[in-house]
Amino acid sequence: MKIANRMSRLGTETAFEVMAQAKALERQGKDIIYLQIGEPDFATPTHIVDGAIKALRDGHTHYSAPSGILPLKEAIADEVYSRRGVRPDVEQIVVTPGAKPIIFFVILACIESGDEVIYPNPGFPIYESMINFVGGRAVPLPLREENEFSFDQDEFMSLLSERTRMIIINSPHNPTGGVLSDDDVDFVSKVAKEKNILVLTDEVYKNIIYGAEHKSIYSVEGMNDLTVLLDGFSKTYAMTGWRLGYGVMPKQLSRKIERLMTNCNSCTATFSQYAAIEALKGPTKEVDEMVEIFKTRRDFIVDGLNNLPGVSCVNPKGAFYVFPNVKELGISSNELENYLLHESGVAVLSGSAFGSHGDGYLRLSYANSIENIDRALSRIHKALERI
Ligand SMILES: Cc1ncc(COP(=O)(O)O)c(C=O)c1O
Repeated sequence: MKIANRMSRLGTETAFEVMAQAKALERQGKDIIYLQIGEPDFATPTHIVDGAIKALRDGHTHYSAPSGILPLKEAIADEVYSRRGVRPDVEQIVVTPGAKPIIFFVILACIESGDEVIYPNPGFPIYESMINFVGGRAVPLPLREENEFSFDQDEFMSLLSERTRMIIINSPHNPTGGVLSDDDVDFVSKVAKEKNILVLTDEVYKNIIYGAEHKSIYSVEGMNDLTVLLDGFSKTYAMTGWRLGYGVMPKQLSRKIERLMTNCNSCTATFSQYAAIEALKGPTKEVDEMVEIFKTRRDFIVDGLNNLPGVSCVNPKGAFYVFPNVKELGISSNELENYLLHESGVAVLSGSAFGSHGDGYLRLSYANSIENIDRALSRIHKALERI
């Protein structure tokens, strides 16, 4: 069979591959602790589930408009206004099955062969994968531990060129848990405005933040026309399996993304969209509690990791990941990922799964109980002593 050449440029998310390997080991009888996956281990709040059941009973089981139902888009506009202080027009909003398709569609719609895109590295692997897929040039913006996993502004400037078409930022950040400072956000917006570059701001972890403020570039004056704001329901409301996300963007672009939706998904599941309104309008108690629990776990895991020989871990301000430095162990992070899975039954990800600048780190998700995190840490401790 002839497969199109472009498919060789498409990357992946190894989280799904490690998950498959871990499940295979589990089927062979091995006890696995899952610290590799990027999804909250909480149930979707009840009022959201009830909203979906009601929508099903009310017969919302047919196609919707490709860009989403109006009441959800109105609820999103309200949410964007309350969180970012700017109210988008509903025509700027496209609802998609998960936030991921916004990355896929926007890069597909905006990047031509040879266009350059600056993207965070380490970073969510789909950015680099999609830039390469469409024939763009992926320009990594290194996020270093010494800068609390933010970027160096001089280095940023050195990456700009005549061909820079897009800048991708993600805060709170996967995989490091870093949060961009106000100054960094202002810096990116200044560059984007001066050079007329589109910014894709991935804010799916905006609600999962500890003691820091989330500043959105969308709220910076003059950025409405230059920003694609990407957000979703997977992380904040523990709704990964519902597949619900959205993008807010200039109308010229939203019309194109809507056309991609028509060609690809037709629409996001209609009853899910009704449930999403409940998520945005309903009580926040369960989400607030989830974030509190994440914070306790973060403190616990950071402490535990810093007590491991040869491991050091900065305290992340957001998301539910830690990104410990394992360079002192003298084993590559890929080998370590493999070793920990097979030797101790702990599934983690190598930092290199998030780009070349992630080498020498591991990503652990603390979307798991304190008991399991504790068990995982002692297993890792034992395994490291045997290296
Ligand atoms: C930074 C980032 N952006 C986007 C997504 C996509 O989320 P979803 O498609 O489930 O809404 C993820 C999921 O892991 C992520 O970590």
